[in-house]
Amino acid sequence: GKGVAVFTSGGDSQGMNAAVRACVRMGIYLGCKVFFIKEGYQGMVDGGNNIVEANWASVSGIIHRGGTVIGSARCQDFRERPGRLKAAKNLVERGITNLVVIGGDGSLTGANLFRQEWTSLLDELLQNSQITQEQRQKYPILHIAGIVGSIDNDFCGTDMTVGTDSALHRIIEAVDAIVSTAYSHQRTFIMEVMGRHCGYLSLITAVTSEADYVFIPESPPFEDWPKRLCDKLEQERQAGQRLNIIIVAEGAVDRTGKPITAEQVKKVVVDNLHQDTRITVLGHVQRGGNSSAFDRVLGCRMGAEAVLALMEATDDTEACVVSLEGNQAVRLPLMDCVLRTKAVAQAMADKNWELAVELRGKS
Ligand code: F6P
Repeated sequence: GKGVAVFTSGGDSQGMNAAVRACVRMGIYLGCKVFFIKEGYQGMVDGGNNIVEANWASVSGIIHRGGTVIGSARCQDFRERPGRLKAAKNLVERGITNLVVIGGDGSLTGANLFRQEWTSLLDELLQNSQITQEQRQKYPILHIAGIVGSIDNDFCGTDMTVGTDSALHRIIEAVDAIVSTAYSHQRTFIMEVMGRHCGYLSLITAVTSEADYVFIPESPPFEDWPKRLCDKLEQERQAGQRLNIIIVAEGAVDRTGKPITAEQVKKVVVDNLHQDTRITVLGHVQRGGNSSAFDRVLGCRMGAEAVLALMEATDDTEACVVSLEGNQAVRLPLMDCVLRTKAVAQAMADKNWELAVELRGKS
């Protein structure tokens, strides 16, 4: 059978385990030899016990678990050619020519570059007598399928990244908990939500928790935001509301591109309205805990589709990313999605927020 390896890379997210499990079982079902690569790219570079063959039972009892049981890492070695050479050798030695990478856009980009470099890496290994002529000829192509695992939902090409739904569950639970104590003391709470440069988690949190105000990177407020914010908070209090909730995305900025922080917002509220105000930074709680039913199903579907894509790949099939479009699992050219995601980041850096939103909307 063909050699397939699965690994998780970058920040973890709930649902990654469901995807790993589906890759392993679909691979075995199709007669492949499936491997785990532990600790992401670092495990691929280091080889040894980091690359182990998986069996049906080795992925039992993980579908519900948050995080990634095979470990993840941000890896410096893989960014350098010597590291990638070692990684290529480790794969060839085990007959692995199919990779499922589960991670964010950086991890997927890395995989695509690795694929493009594959031939030259193998040539160099052959020259150095680290692989045989037979191995060189047997493994001409490295096939790649990507799955986007991230709580941020910041990737162009998929409606939902694996982990976003679970993170939202966690966030909403926390906001609901805060609301009850805020109510008792007539307090204002400012909650900082993750998402890097993407405001999706914050926006959905605000909408579903009846927050009074939300700051997101894609829609920086106008200069007079302190006044608008205070007017709104006061208006709600006058209407009989006993508390205020303000959601601040960790990547929120103003129209000059300067970060808007929870501390800054608190100061505005305290200085102008003298409200009893507290900050809660949700932090990594958002990324932890069991995965939601949605993320389990999503992970399963993406994992199964990724292995199918690899098995159907021909010599000229490009690296793909499997994603959710409507309610369908689809395959899209990986590089295309990565470039679109980078274009969003560039538009934001250029302070062209309208363009960023438009580009993201196309995903
Ligand atoms: O990309 C996922 C994410 O949780 C972001 O929302 C956050 O900005 C970042 O990772 C935190 O990274 P780390 O876990 O390295 O602190």
